[in-house]
Amino acid sequence: MKMRLLLPLLLAIWISAPFGYCSLPTSSCLQPPAKWCSSLDSAVQCGVLKQCLESDFRRSRQTEEPVQVGLYYESLCPGCRKFLTEMLFPTYLLLDIMSVTLVPYGNAQETPVAQKYTYECQHGKQECLGNMIETCIMNMTDMAFPIIFCMESSADVIGSAESCLKVYAPDLSMDKVMSCVNGDMGMQLMHQNALQTKALNPPHQYVPWITINGVHTEDLQEKAMSSLFTLVCSMYKGTKPAACGGSQKLHYKSYCHNE
Ligand SMILES: *[C@@H]1O[C@H](CO)[C@@H](O)[C@H](O)[C@H]1NC(C)=O
Repeated sequence: MKMRLLLPLLLAIWISAPFGYCSLPTSSCLQPPAKWCSSLDSAVQCGVLKQCLESDFRRSRQTEEPVQVGLYYESLCPGCRKFLTEMLFPTYLLLDIMSVTLVPYGNAQETPVAQKYTYECQHGKQECLGNMIETCIMNMTDMAFPIIFCMESSADVIGSAESCLKVYAPDLSMDKVMSCVNGDMGMQLMHQNALQTKALNPPHQYVPWITINGVHTEDLQEKAMSSLFTLVCSMYKGTKPAACGGSQKLHYKSYCHNE
């Protein structure tokens, strides 16, 4: 008797399971896969957040140039970590109308030594190592931003690198990253960071130093630090995405319906 009742119940659960959350598939998942990444919401509901981050096709629907946000920072500077993890990365996830350029170097000093370069960092050798790890990761995977977010939000920025790689880029080994860090490639890439930072106009006076579409002003810096989201929405020239509307609500919950 009990088994009879149980079986249809199990079947019902099993049938609904592929759609997740014990509900009918959300309308966005019934649309072509190209639409699944159209918002953070639908990416989460369709279970493809990681794939959306990896792919570039969430940008393909945008006709106007994205708002370019540049961050000149140091891997162990507390203010930089706070901005990157609490403002920049969440905004990037919510708005598909921005692109992000990370330049870890900041107040570091470069010294040429016998056709090579050595580096000194404001927060010591560990910071130089953190800058270099992040620089190499940016050169080795499309998942660099989530990995750097993961590192910077950890209590141990450098110690967490390996586990952050395992989460977001399991095919990229820490050994591979470290051979970049300790080799010529890392040095070349860090030299590029140094050149980019030295080319800032006006020159940077502190970190985090923010540029919007390549421009730094005190006004833009202040607006970015207080609400990057509002700034990017206001600067985007194309049709504003729904996320910019202000009245949009996030729907993470799904419900079970009696049909
Ligand atoms: C990695 O860096 C090298 C040297 O600067 C460059 O040629 C290459 O395009 C970079 N690759 C990626 C994926 O950024």
